[in-house]
Amino acid sequence: MTNQTRGWSRRNLLATSIASTVSVTLLGRSGAEAAPATVQTNPRDPVNVTLKVNGRQHRLSFDVRTTLLDALREHMGLTGSKKGCDHGQCGACTVLVNDRRVLSCLTLAASADGQDVTTIEGLAQPDGSLHAMQQAFIDHDAFQCGYCTPGQILSAVACVKEGHAVVDAEIREYMSGNLCRCAAYPNIVDAIKQARPKMKEA
Ligand code: FES
Ligand code: FES
Repeated sequence: MTNQTRGWSRRNLLATSIASTVSVTLLGRSGAEAAPATVQTNPRDPVNVTLKVNGRQHRLSFDVRTTLLDALREHMGLTGSKKGCDHGQCGACTVLVNDRRVLSCLTLAASADGQDVTTIEGLAQPDGSLHAMQQAFIDHDAFQCGYCTPGQILSAVACVKEGHAVVDAEIREYMSGNLCRCAAYPNIVDAIKQARPKMKEA
């Protein structure tokens, strides 16, 4: 057999094989291609969400993976809620959603769509008078650097509303998710005890 004959034979074989494979593949796909096309949405596309924060509606558009903490801080400029660990360990990011405390670093902002969110910026009265818990923290020196304080105060407000602020041990237990590197814990307990009756009166 000559080289040319061998070359033609090899080409013919390859061409035949490819043609067969393509035919089989096309035949195999024909059913799938007949199915109606589905529209794939890109998961990276921004989502439109309306967040009600401190009584004000905010229409926002952000990546669906945005946390509530980042939405507050980066999209609304509400930097009172602090990012400590960003892993649900320290409580610095605590905010209230429908009066229940949540760790905003572990909460997807989109899940708060239409819910009532309260941050430290929304705790005082519109005339500027402080919430009883804010005043109590000042009266008892319940902070040093202040980094944990917004989360502590919101957690303390919820703690009282939950009915978990009757005795010191209970307060410590139900405030244990809020860490304070300055160790202002005894003062925080005293502040909560001062604010509790005043919150009940209000
Ligand atoms: S920043 Fe959310 S728990 Fe630490
Ligand atoms: S006041 Fe500094 S971390 Fe609590």
